[in-house]
Amino acid sequence: MKSTLVELSDRVAAAIVEVCPMPADQVDAQLRRAQDERFGDYQSNCAMGLGKRLGIAPRALADRIAGALTIADLCDPPEVAGPGFINLRLRAEYVAARLAEIPPAPAAGTDRLGLAPAESPQVVVVDMSSPNLAKELHVGHLRSTVIGDCVSRLLEFAGHTVHRVNHVGDWGTQFGMLLAYLRRTQPSVLERPEALRLDNLEEFYIAAKALFDADPAFAAESRETVVALQRGDADVRAVWQAFCTESLRHCHEVYDRLGVRLTDRGESFYRDRLAEVIDAFHSAGLAQVSDGATCVFLDGFTTRDGGPLPMMIRKSDGGYNYATTDLAALRHRVHELGADRIVYVVGVPQKQHLEMLFAAARKVGWAPDAFTLTHLAFGSMLGPDGTPFKTRTGGTVKLRDLLDEAVERARRVVENDAESGGRRADFDAVTIDRIARTVALGAVKYYDLSHAMGSDYRFDWNTMLALEGNTAPYLLYAYARIRSIGRKAGIQFDALSRETAITLSHPSELRLAKKLLDLGDVLKHVTVELRPNLLTDYLYDLSKAFSTFYDRQHGVRVIDAEPPALRLSRLRLCDLTARTLKLGLHLLGIDTVEQM
Ligand code: ARG
Repeated sequence: MKSTLVELSDRVAAAIVEVCPMPADQVDAQLRRAQDERFGDYQSNCAMGLGKRLGIAPRALADRIAGALTIADLCDPPEVAGPGFINLRLRAEYVAARLAEIPPAPAAGTDRLGLAPAESPQVVVVDMSSPNLAKELHVGHLRSTVIGDCVSRLLEFAGHTVHRVNHVGDWGTQFGMLLAYLRRTQPSVLERPEALRLDNLEEFYIAAKALFDADPAFAAESRETVVALQRGDADVRAVWQAFCTESLRHCHEVYDRLGVRLTDRGESFYRDRLAEVIDAFHSAGLAQVSDGATCVFLDGFTTRDGGPLPMMIRKSDGGYNYATTDLAALRHRVHELGADRIVYVVGVPQKQHLEMLFAAARKVGWAPDAFTLTHLAFGSMLGPDGTPFKTRTGGTVKLRDLLDEAVERARRVVENDAESGGRRADFDAVTIDRIARTVALGAVKYYDLSHAMGSDYRFDWNTMLALEGNTAPYLLYAYARIRSIGRKAGIQFDALSRETAITLSHPSELRLAKKLLDLGDVLKHVTVELRPNLLTDYLYDLSKAFSTFYDRQHGVRVIDAEPPALRLSRLRLCDLTARTLKLGLHLLGIDTVEQM
């Protein structure tokens, strides 16, 4: 079944071909959702450009195209407005019939609400989270992890095969210092590497760095340790392995809490493939050695004073760069994982690095034109006052502490009885705890995902946990409320079959239904653009449309609607809203609760 947007575009395109002498494959219906509902649901802007091209007044052309449109099964008669916009408004019967086709929710697995997966599935690597193991996961890693998870879910839902790759920094010069310090402070690590516990990686790093700066002998030892590590010295390797395992254990505690799964593939994985990278650039005639370092010069990259900016792939001391590993990783993903696309969920500061990486990969022939390389660049999470996010004492905020605080704050929101102002009596402690955890995680994730990705945002507990507004608590509450409508109505939503006819008579009912019908086109758009905030906006709009629909004054009666067929129709709309919210939240990585 075609989406409404595609169906309408096809119809408009057919009308254009009928009216204008032009080949069908050159026609662009320029159909989009209308900005203002008062003028319709969709709008085609095709007449403006076409009119100019053909030398016909756009308004007259729009009239002719509108006249040629065969669209009565979907829309009211089209209206031409302004300089030549063609406005289309969906008919209630069409909307009702389309919604009625949605199959019941499956007993298990993801409820797709009748949406088909993509016709040409791809293999996509999502490079996400990717902390450096020397440090604890901090709030800066939240964005990459949460956005990467959401993007992976969207792509998977669309039918693509996704590899979520955690490109952890587990290799490089800083490890010399850490390993030397580890050997010094915990000599037993060599006998029993599996027993290593580092409760506070941050403190460990700071202590190692302090010694490194103060003690030249230790600094020298650190440098020797890097060389030994790279040479493959068995003892050093064992200490390194122990350190990485322990560090990753910390990371996965947080990933588990976030409900995010990913595959660790650290930079060290590519260490034996780095020399090949250099060779490949040399054989392609793309590498230049200057001052002993190997560099790649790419068109369009310049330093501040206009000189060429090289991408360094080998240092003068023979060591490799961050970029070298990224090139090896890219090649591995294309050639060995069979990827058609790589999405890098990495902060804005690495924009230039990734641009150079993409340009170099294209030039050396590892990424053909059809291969998509995307940098999903996200801004920083700032403190409430707009300065970098820090603890009160100026330290970095650990992700696990942040999540603990979120649960405590969410508990207060959940425990509080909005009506009496006291503590709610209908939930026991276990239930409150369970709901608080879901609300807390949901709030943190949703708040992050609801911001335009490229910009910085301010972290603000009160906004993210508010029960009103574009927040997870509002949506989770909306979902739970609809589920309780089902219980109050004494009806099993799941039992409402495809045969339950849908009638859309009241404006609030029709508006809600149109929003529900939008889901497929919205998801497609969100997945093409990889912009989760478009999905959060949609879910918020949907919830608002529901609350008007369910409002005694502005909406309709539902549980006590008469006759019974109308009651069932409205309950079916309730169910479709709940299912849409649940799917949308699931794609954002957020679980729902049945009561709240
Ligand atoms: N470990 C890096 C950092 O913390 C991020 C890695 C991003 N991914 C990549 N393929 N470069 O800055």
